[in-house]
Amino acid sequence: RQVIKVGLLGLGTVGRGVYRILIDNAESIKQRVGIELEVKKILVRSLEKNRGLDLPEGILTSNLGEIVDDPEINIVVEVLGGTNPTLDYVLEALRKGKSVVTANKDMVAEHGERLFAAAQQNNCDLLFEASVAGGIPIIRTLKQSLAANRIQEVFGIINGTTNYMLTKMTQEGSEFDDVLKEAQAQGYAESDPTADVGGFDAARKIAILSSIAFNTRVPLSRVYTEGITKISAEDIAYANELGYVIKLLGIAKSRDEGVEVRVHPTFIPKAHPLAAVGDVFNAVFVRGDAVGDTMFYGRGAGEMPTASAVVADVMDAARDLVRNVPGIIGCTCFEHRPVLEVGQTFSKYY
Ligand code: NDP
Ligand code: HSE
Repeated sequence: RQVIKVGLLGLGTVGRGVYRILIDNAESIKQRVGIELEVKKILVRSLEKNRGLDLPEGILTSNLGEIVDDPEINIVVEVLGGTNPTLDYVLEALRKGKSVVTANKDMVAEHGERLFAAAQQNNCDLLFEASVAGGIPIIRTLKQSLAANRIQEVFGIINGTTNYMLTKMTQEGSEFDDVLKEAQAQGYAESDPTADVGGFDAARKIAILSSIAFNTRVPLSRVYTEGITKISAEDIAYANELGYVIKLLGIAKSRDEGVEVRVHPTFIPKAHPLAAVGDVFNAVFVRGDAVGDTMFYGRGAGEMPTASAVVADVMDAARDLVRNVPGIIGCTCFEHRPVLEVGQTFSKYY
């Protein structure tokens, strides 16, 4: 094999970043993987849109078949978003034996079981590092680097849009609607930003993290979810007076009776490390029985940080193809722990 060909589904905020890294860092990527990676086709909705990229003639297509039916393409990168028609597209790619890399937390949180089963049946990689906390390597960390531990808790700031908004509202007294527009303009927000401000994006992410951390399946419907839509400038001012900042946290804890998984705005003492996590940054704490406390920090959204995580997955998928060992690791739920009902055991502290 001389080169591994990649099909890209989507060329929006994240897709552009993925394309840029694969072109700009092609040489070092080739050295690290041991083989060249080349984007052969890119699926988009509009063939006319100005992409601001120097694209080879004919690389864009609006026909999925040109990617999933192309035997030369071994890796499919899904950065379309949403679940419809995306889930069908990804299942089709897996059925055709392509390894898949995705940044799509909606799809992984809602349809993970089906996707992992399809990947396993077809001996393909299914990698999703970018689906949680943008550029922070937290999925790989839980699946691999901390795999020796029984994880006791995972919590933190896992939505960049709302952290950006709360930071601006706190530091500059900005209005909710204005800062939401800014976050959208920066490419941080979801296409439907109610997923961000309503806490649903963070709920999907904590469902994914807790499923991996506790080796169990945490259905999205069991994640207690409250967003920041009711947070006013007055709440922020009161918190400040009392020595706190307000942050939207995703929290997952292992209890004797089961696991509790929740998302809600939380008062954080100003001296706590999470209070200093501003702008679009995310931070995730993980406590393991062997390792103790660990903390991971970085940009949780945006073109290049997210693409950094996607391309690292593409490189892993390519290495597996080179060694002829594609397949999924660390995503099998071997424990079945109850997810605790809201109000059963927990209060809204971190
Ligand atoms: P964008 O909306 O910017 O881009 C979506 C791309 O997909 C566009 O190029 C669009 O085509 C294409 N597309 C969408 N639907 C179809 C379809 N049915 N057929 C063909 N092409 C389609 O999204 P983002 O790049 O922001 O996000 C992509 C994914 O990454 C989402 O799952 C998101 O949750 C996730 N993510 C995003 C982050 C971010 O910071 N933005 C961070 C982490 C994850 P066209 O350009 O022609 O309209
Ligand atoms: N909309 C998401 C966020 C993108 O703001 O965190 C990254 O997953």
